Amino acid sequence: MIRVAVAGAAGRMGQMVCAAVDGADDLTLTGRADPVLDTAVADVLADADVLVDFTRPDTALDNARAALAAGVHVVIGTSGFDMDGLREAARPSQAKAFFGPNFAIGAVLMMKFAAEASRIMERAEIVELHHPSKLDAPSGTAARTAELMAGDVPIHSVRLPGIVADQEVVLGDVGQTLTISHRTIDRTSFMPGVLLAIRRVADLPESPTVGLEHLLD
Ligand SMILES: NC(=O)c1ccc[n+]([C@@H]2O[C@H](COP(=O)([O-])OP(=O)(O)OC[C@H]3O[C@@H](n4cnc5c(N)ncnc54)[C@H](O)[C@@H]3O)[C@@H](O)[C@H]2O)c1
Repeated sequence: MIRVAVAGAAGRMGQMVCAAVDGADDLTLTGRADPVLDTAVADVLADADVLVDFTRPDTALDNARAALAAGVHVVIGTSGFDMDGLREAARPSQAKAFFGPNFAIGAVLMMKFAAEASRIMERAEIVELHHPSKLDAPSGTAARTAELMAGDVPIHSVRLPGIVADQEVVLGDVGQTLTISHRTIDRTSFMPGVLLAIRRVADLPESPTVGLEHLLD
């Protein structure tokens, strides 16, 4: 049994992660941290093997630091936090850190295909579309996609009601375009990836590891 605590447990993603962990035979939910629930991350670490963080760009790193310092592995889904800070915190720790810019399998494949196409086609731009409550722009997925692609890839951010998390990578070359598009219909799309990361984080050869693609083979 892997003991799992969730930071941001009252949030949109956190509630789903709690339910997904609860429903898994090999995982047990031992803590729900969230200011809304009057429970701090420090209060849930003693009973956890893994902390899952879906909070805010300005709190995720502190939560990860606290987990790593307590010997608790951390799976981060929050986007827009300081990655250099995570690298620094992970270096001296026996516990491992994983950051998934996007836990949806289709988005991971979109990034892989976009990276491949960018090495062949002349230019590309990314349009990422999210719900209006998203705090950071560009999205972690778009930033990661651009990082994996060849050349300088501009990102356009759209925030509108009715959208969960969508992205289009448009590639252009002489007389043609190629669009690679991923659409998230609801947040259940992220759960298989989150559960996989929880199960695999302790055995990561590198910490932090960034990207679900490293866990799929
Ligand atoms: N990686 C992915 O696949 C993926 C998918 C969806 C969302 N996200 C990211 O996950 C994050 C959360 O998204 P959301 O839509 O659930 O947000 P949300 O606002 O619904 O939930 C965030 C929760 O974190 C809580 N919180 C704030 N400070 C905290 C702290 N110090 N400790 C513990 N909890 C704290 C808030 O009270 C809130 O309940 C965002 O950064 C979003 O971009 C990532």
